[in-house]
Amino acid sequence: MKIIDGNALAETIKSELRIKVLEATASGKRPPHLAAVLIGDNPASRSYVTNKVKSCQDVGYKSTLIQRPAELSQQAVLDIVHQLNEDPEIDGFIVQLPLPEHIIEMDITLAIRPEKDVDGFHPMNLGLMTLGLPTYLPATPMGIMQMLERYHIDTAGKMCCVIGRSNIVGTPISILLSRKGNPGDATVVMCHSRTPDIKKISSEADILIVALGRPQFVTPDMVKEGAVVIDVGINRIPDPSKKSGFRLVGDVDFERVSPKCNYITPVPGGVGPMTVTSLLLNTWKAYSGEIYPKT
Ligand code: GUN
Repeated sequence: MKIIDGNALAETIKSELRIKVLEATASGKRPPHLAAVLIGDNPASRSYVTNKVKSCQDVGYKSTLIQRPAELSQQAVLDIVHQLNEDPEIDGFIVQLPLPEHIIEMDITLAIRPEKDVDGFHPMNLGLMTLGLPTYLPATPMGIMQMLERYHIDTAGKMCCVIGRSNIVGTPISILLSRKGNPGDATVVMCHSRTPDIKKISSEADILIVALGRPQFVTPDMVKEGAVVIDVGINRIPDPSKKSGFRLVGDVDFERVSPKCNYITPVPGGVGPMTVTSLLLNTWKAYSGEIYPKT
């Protein structure tokens, strides 16, 4: 069993980015600039956004964090988005999800200019992704693709089971892995809450990707011997022995499942850090005009 070390891979990618930023700034250019919008005080969201901002500092990007209370109106959130869309100093920005219930998330996503949508959530970017054209890939699926690529895990012709059908993980990773390419060329089955017998499908899978947000949902009987298991879940469960009062576990029962696997990602230290570096890579693309040329 081999652990896919997301922390180490993220550090490698960040070192590569740091060099690119130094080269750009040495030639007189300003550094890339990412903005993050955090509405409300969901502790997990706060922690993710703090991490994203800190990672910008790690690679020499400028970052701006815009924090507003949960009561902010939808129009006020749209105003922030419009302002960021128009700001020539901001290369890309994200609005951290989930948003408070009174805000319609899709309205916010649709308001973000595709050129600055470094989360890759806008239908324009998801459409480009679906057609296999250059775009900003959603950060978590992009991080998974990088892990598979950099660990030379063969996906061609493999049976891949994705558990979860969210817009930001399950659906895009299913599309990416079934497309032509490397990683890709897999036969993908996407399971969800209406799938009658997930175990029947998951236990046949060479590659199992779990993104449903249920702590330790995947047990050894659901996993094929020698499988590659990618755990996207980050769940907080109570743990009185910790100062914070909680610890993080994935959607996979790591302790019991890992002995069966060929490769597995841990939580924490697996997919999470790769999501953040993917956002940094997309921000670089926005800055350099690789996808949408700067006007
Ligand atoms: N919430 C969970 N994952 C993400 C992400 O990748 N981007 C944003 N904006 N919100 C999230």
